This record gives sequence, C-alpha cells and structure tokens, in this order.
Amino acid sequence: MNTKLFTEPTETAVTEAAEILRSGGLVAFPTETVYGLGGNGLDPDAARKIYAAKGRPSDNPLIIHVAEIADAERYCITSPLYYKIAEHFMPGPITVIMPKRDCIPYEVTGGLDTVALRIPSHPIAHRLLAEAKIPVAAPSANLSGRPSPTTAAHVITDMMGRINAIIDGGDCDFGVESTIVKIDGKHVTLLRPGAVTLEELRELCGEVAVDPTITEKPAENFIPLAPGMKYRHYAPRAHVTLLDGSHDAVTACLTEAVNHEDIGILCYDDMLPEALTSRSNVITLGKESDPTETAHKLFAALRAFDDMQQVTSILAPLPDKKGIGLAVYNRLIKAAGFDVKKI
Ligand code: TXA
Ligand code: MG
Repeated sequence: MNTKLFTEPTETAVTEAAEILRSGGLVAFPTETVYGLGGNGLDPDAARKIYAAKGRPSDNPLIIHVAEIADAERYCITSPLYYKIAEHFMPGPITVIMPKRDCIPYEVTGGLDTVALRIPSHPIAHRLLAEAKIPVAAPSANLSGRPSPTTAAHVITDMMGRINAIIDGGDCDFGVESTIVKIDGKHVTLLRPGAVTLEELRELCGEVAVDPTITEKPAENFIPLAPGMKYRHYAPRAHVTLLDGSHDAVTACLTEAVNHEDIGILCYDDMLPEALTSRSNVITLGKESDPTETAHKLFAALRAFDDMQQVTSILAPLPDKKGIGLAVYNRLIKAAGFDVKKI
C-alpha cells in the first residue's frame, strides 16, 4: 500500500485525513500522549484493518477517540462519575472505560460489552476528530510488541506501506500512553497509569482501586481487566534488568557495566560522570527529579537500543512510583519482564 505522508499538519492535510477515515481508511496522527493509528470506530472492517496493520491480537480492544465530552452519550452509557472525571481531566491524557452502546461493534471492543473513550487535547488530533465526525478507534501506531511511537519517524519505521496516511505533528508531549480508568457504578479502578496521576484521581474521586498487574507480575491464570496488559508490551530486543538499591549502589553498578559494550545503560543524567554518559551504549532520561522528562524520553530510548546490534542486555535503575513516575515504572517493569535485581 502507498502511504501518504503529510509532512505538515496543514488544514488541507487534516481535511484529507478526515476524509480517509470516513471512507474506511487508516490514518496515523499525533496526540499529546503517543501517536495513534486511527480508523472508523463504527466500522468492523476498519477495526480488522487496524489489527492487521499492527499485527495485534483481535481480542485486545481499541480506544475510541472523540472531540467533545458530550459525544460520549452516543457511544457509551455514561454516569455522573464520567462527567466528574471528564470535566476535570478532558480533553487530556486519560481514557475512561464504560458500558458500550450497540453502535460500537464488538470488533472494536475485542468482544467486550464495555468501550474505552478518550478525548485528546492535541490540537491536530482535536481538529481531525471534529472534522471526521465519527468516533475514531485508535491504538498506539506501533507494530504490536514494539514501544509506542512518540515521533512521526517511529510511526514511519513501523507503519510505512501498511496504512493509508501519516500526519507528522512533531514530538508527543507526554510520551507515555493515556491513564486508563474503569468506571463500575460508583467505583473507579486504575488499569494503566499515565500523565493523569493516581494522586490526582484520588483527590477528585476519593477511593481509586489499582489493578495489581500495574506493578506486579500476574499469576499464570490471572485474567487482567485490560486485556492488553496480558501481552508482553514495551519489550525491547535486549533483556532489561532493573536495579533496586541506593543511588550510590546503582551508580557503582552502572559505572562498572558501562565498559561492556554489549550492555546498554539507561539512566538519569546525574548518575554517571559526563565522560561516561557520552559513551554510545548509554542513553539518559533527564534528571531523576523530573519524571515528566523521563516519560517523554522513555520509548525513544527503548527504540534506540533496538537499533544497537551489539547491545544484548540493558540495565536501568528501578524508577520511583510517585506521580507520572508510576507510568514510567509500569512501562519499564513490563519491558523488563519483571526482572528486578536487588543491589
Ligand atoms: O494514549 C493512548 O491511550 C493512545 C493514544 C493513541 O490515544 N492509545 C493507546 O491505545 O495506547 P492501545 O490500544 O495501545 O492501548 C489501549 C489499552 C489496551 O491495553 C487495551 O487492552 C485497553 O486499553 N482497553 C481498551 N478497551 C478496553 C476495555 N473495554 N476494557 C478494558 N481495557 C480496554
Ligand atoms: Mg499500544
């Protein structure tokens, strides 16, 4: 397939992209979290095309994206709790799971009676959704199993020739996928941490349960609430080990490992002296005190290690779980297949 690349997100580009979506095609577009791979969320065929383009198992449901808070009425059975969360955090990096209405096909929800809904704040995404006038089903625009794309270059690597069009909108702000919460009557459960933090959700909603698979290895027979969580996500080619110890112990361990060129080092700016951070097998994620920057840089770093043929294992410090740090912790512990070494 010939993939049209819109190098500038002009008005005509967005209008053309909206037309492609309405006529059943697939368009990758920027959001404030990661790039999405969009298709008509009312069309079972478009959903099938999305799964095929990503190589994703079709029991792993898609998020539908809409332009306005009130659009949810048409596709979901809403509740006062939805409006409370929506008015506080939407448009923005949060997805809410609610019972679906009949117009949303089971192909989109992976056979579930619930649907995930998100309203991105990114201006290009917003314009595209407003013009398309359909709910746009959009998983992250990566091949299944690869880190989510945070730049158009990542999307081009994974999706060129597999979809109809790509809109280049520059780097994504947050760099980790949206926070996902499930609403069940009066209960809220966090299924995936993101830039809307657990602390913020608890401040607004009171009690918020946390799906244990966010931080812990699920038991063999465990059925996760978000089907996507059972797949080995965010897995780079090299084996990742997370180091759990004092700042000094972790620094000492990384300083020793940096001399082995088959070991990739993923660390904070201030963990190693400058002479060592400039080595080709070292990638830094900003200051340890700035988890927002770490989140922003994380997936590009994991992709960069995939391109370093000599790197067969990666060492990284175990991140802090506060704020958006929980999202970084969750993505890294999954990338590591829960391999944490106490030092
Ligand atoms: O930031 C984001 O959310 C990005 C951008 C493009 O919006 N999208 C994204 O989609 O990350 P995806 O498909 O890569 O991840 C969606 C996750 C999956 O783990 C899926 O299992 C879960 O949401 N999910 C979707 N619908 C669900 C439902 N009805 N019940 C439980 N989990 C659901
Ligand atoms: Mg994804």
